[in-house]
Amino acid sequence: MAFDIERFATKSERVQWKDLSFDDFREKPLPPHTLRSLRYMCDVEYHTVCYLRDLLVTPAHEDEDVNTFFTIWNREEFWHGEALAEVLGWHGITVNFDALKAKRLKVGWKDRLDPVKQSVLGNVIGADFIATHMIWGAINEWSASAAYTRLADLEGHPALAELLRRIARQEARHVAFYATQARKRLEASKKARVVARFALRKAWAPVGSGVMPEDEVVHVMTHLFSGPDGMAEIRRIDEHVGRMPGLDGLTIVEDAMRARGVAA
Ligand SMILES: [Fe+2]
Ligand SMILES: [Fe+2]
Repeated sequence: MAFDIERFATKSERVQWKDLSFDDFREKPLPPHTLRSLRYMCDVEYHTVCYLRDLLVTPAHEDEDVNTFFTIWNREEFWHGEALAEVLGWHGITVNFDALKAKRLKVGWKDRLDPVKQSVLGNVIGADFIATHMIWGAINEWSASAAYTRLADLEGHPALAELLRRIARQEARHVAFYATQARKRLEASKKARVVARFALRKAWAPVGSGVMPEDEVVHVMTHLFSGPDGMAEIRRIDEHVGRMPGLDGLTIVEDAMRARGVAA
């Protein structure tokens, strides 16, 4: 199914929270382990601008639909960060976007993919590498959607759960874009399939790792995905990946969880 970029652009809006009763947090504050996970998620959302910076140096941005998507997607992710920062603010935790941005522009997924790119550059033309960026993006979005839905279920605070579900619905639209792009580009080129499979196996790691301290990665992954329900979500992401051309049988997300001691 084609992704309707016009519709996406027209319907895009700041995730709403003003109608949610965050003042409940005064009576019933969120527990420290949840705040710690929310802090991570906020940080990752705000980090999108750096990720976008890395995407814009690839040939991907020559495609008009991709360019339109990037612009709106970046804005939606920023607003997710802002909404989560509001929740954290109710608990006396301040997250400053500008400070984070200044620090984070120095690191990004480019650093993770660069060695892979270097190692295959002799055999690969730019266009075939876009498929890797797109499937990478799809996995990040599947992960984000799963993480928000899980936290909404686990925490059960009505206002928080509603906010997280609203964010998750936007993440699902991001999935649709990246997955459509990835499928199309993987289908079109054997080279793209080989490179994507190689890159994912060699370099994929959970969203935020390499940017956040490893202790924080382990905390969030354990909090959200340990136990049978959490690991079932993780396997669903691997199943989505496995249905992509050339990527059958990969279990990169489950492997990454197990490597961090997260288990059913
Ligand atoms: Fe987001
Ligand atoms: Fe997203």
